[in-house]
Amino acid sequence: MAFDITRARAAYPALGEGFRHFDAAAGSLVAEPVARAVHAVHTGAVANRSDAFAPGRRALEIVAEARRAVADLLGADPAGVMFGSSATSLTYLIARTVAASWQPGDEVVVSRLDHDSNVRPWVQLAAERGATVRWAEFDPATGQLPTEQYRALIGERTRVVAVTAASNAIGTRPDVPAIAALAHAAGALVYVDGVHATPHQPTDVAALGADFYVTSAYKWSGPHLAACAADPVLLETLHPLKLRPSSDAVPERFELGTPSFASLAGVTAAVEHLATLDPAATGSRRERLLTSLAAVRDYEAGLFTGLVDGLAGIDGVTLCPAPDDRCPTVSFRLGAQHPAATSAMLGDQGICAFAGDYYAWEYFQTMGLRDSGGAVRAGIYHYTTADDVEVLLEALRTAAKAAR
Ligand SMILES: Cc1ncc(COP(=O)(O)O)c(C=O)c1O
Repeated sequence: MAFDITRARAAYPALGEGFRHFDAAAGSLVAEPVARAVHAVHTGAVANRSDAFAPGRRALEIVAEARRAVADLLGADPAGVMFGSSATSLTYLIARTVAASWQPGDEVVVSRLDHDSNVRPWVQLAAERGATVRWAEFDPATGQLPTEQYRALIGERTRVVAVTAASNAIGTRPDVPAIAALAHAAGALVYVDGVHATPHQPTDVAALGADFYVTSAYKWSGPHLAACAADPVLLETLHPLKLRPSSDAVPERFELGTPSFASLAGVTAAVEHLATLDPAATGSRRERLLTSLAAVRDYEAGLFTGLVDGLAGIDGVTLCPAPDDRCPTVSFRLGAQHPAATSAMLGDQGICAFAGDYYAWEYFQTMGLRDSGGAVRAGIYHYTTADDVEVLLEALRTAAKAAR
């Protein structure tokens, strides 16, 4: 069934302001049911967690529901879903916990395609523990992260392989299952950054081979809160620093302090919202999520082809190379213009597109673009229209002509 874009957009009150949003990779707009769920917690009787009275039990149920919702989104076990304030803070926490057992000479593999939040924590912990960092390189000509190199990078001393499910700069989707198979054959853990990928396609953490999969709800229509899914049996073997009186149960032992119950209710509402994006989807919430996100993927891919072809057809636009099969995210420059100036020029026309390195620090450093401003990023989300794409392209065509 064709994706109903009018229906999808109706769920986002903020679209009424009329901006053209190509900035969802930095954070999407919030879906209305999410705002309602957050509001309901703030205006209802919700206490801190307690079995003793109803408002406390509500808090307990909000947390449990959010774990079930994220588990459905990712194909994970709710008992292994941990929440934190951001993907970055969760990755630091897990990296520090995992690295506690590293010995000098142990190794960790990171990639130059990743957002810095799945690079720096591992690099810094490796330095602290005397471990060696091994770098997976992307191909600058194609934007691919070749899998074959992992055969040489992974060895018997490898403890962790950290890799992204999709690049937030150019959309590349590495072959995570193949990389994970190589890691597991060597007894290493696989930490997958799913922050960019999650809203654009169905996710199955088991099929990916992810021992940890981290995602941020504010990238998929939800509140500013992140989750990481892992096997609870694995989590039982890990012991983060924690307060003495706080729960040592899994996954609570990984959650420091009192969580935002309002945001957790918003997470559940966001997952339920994603599950409704294809109104014809039937079955369990997991099944509806798989159907809806497949419809989103196909809709976004159609628009993205038009966007990339349109950009490639503008004399003066230079695209960062990337494979055809990728998340719908493209980075480019307009002639010799500084990317920040291009972003501001578009901003003046109500078009939202970020410029810079978007924390894909290693990517832009390797490309030799970081010091001169990175690039401009345009991403498709499931509320983007063909008209939005045409407006962006026309603004760039006009600017390119004026610069000639
Ligand atoms: C691919 C990727 N990983 C990680 C992050 C960091 O997420 P958070 O802001 O939740 O720490 C981002 C944010 O832009 C991202 O795009």
